[in-house]
Amino acid sequence: MTLNTPMPLTDVLSAYVAFNAEQGDVSEAQALLDDLLAVAGPGHNIRPGGSEAVSTAEIVRQARMDFVSFMEARHSVRQYDSNRTVAFEKIERAIRAAQQSPSSCNRQTCRVYAFTEKPSIARVLAHHDGNRGFGELLGGVFVVTVDLSHWNTVGERNQGWVDGGMFAMTLALGLHAEGLGACMLNWSAAREQDIKMRTCVGIPDNEIIITLIGFGHMRDEFRVPVSARKPIDMVLTHEPSLR
Ligand SMILES: Cc1cc2nc3c(=O)[nH]c(=O)nc-3n(C[C@H](O)[C@H](O)[C@H](O)COP(=O)(O)O)c2cc1C
Repeated sequence: MTLNTPMPLTDVLSAYVAFNAEQGDVSEAQALLDDLLAVAGPGHNIRPGGSEAVSTAEIVRQARMDFVSFMEARHSVRQYDSNRTVAFEKIERAIRAAQQSPSSCNRQTCRVYAFTEKPSIARVLAHHDGNRGFGELLGGVFVVTVDLSHWNTVGERNQGWVDGGMFAMTLALGLHAEGLGACMLNWSAAREQDIKMRTCVGIPDNEIIITLIGFGHMRDEFRVPVSARKPIDMVLTHEPSLR
């Protein structure tokens, strides 16, 4: 969501070079950029880049909601109205929300394989353990993956799990915001099981499966487990003494 008028269409590197030109010599960077733009050609897909001015007042206005209440109203749902199909627009909106998740260096490595047809849901869930008793009631299932080809150093080897986990959480909250129920479906799978799922869904080798998410329309009335949370002082340590 753009809070202000976006910058004129330019790309991130152009904006970077322009910014640094004010600080000093950018001839080397400019030459590299020119080479890049020459290779990309005039029709390359330029997205807005650079920076934009925002204000605290506008951010607070747009973000105003009772977020704790929103979170407390979320439950892992395992009782669905299996007769109702999930509108594709709701899925798109949830994905749009998830795309707003932060990602390391804005690499946006997450991918979602979405299934909403009963036969395909059943075929995907045949490779999953943990949906017994409700898998057949789901209105859809996402397979959330991360494309590892965006990282190249050893230190980044676990970044996909972080970015993927954050994306998956926002996706589940996006479904929640659309009035749908959702339940994370673990992918604690052994290699053979992982291969079967990859083959079934057509997931390339450069992607890892982060989690599945089952979702669908909730029934008018239903039950959820009481999943009490730990006392906050078991989670939060404020100002521990430093050594
Ligand atoms: C990574 C992950 C995997 C999960 N996998 C499953 C699963 O396979 N089946 C299931 O019924 N619930 C699964 N859950 C849901 C948890 O059981 C649930 O989040 C937890 O009990 C807390 O309940 P709540 O989500 O209703 O607050 C999973 C949750 C997470 C975060």
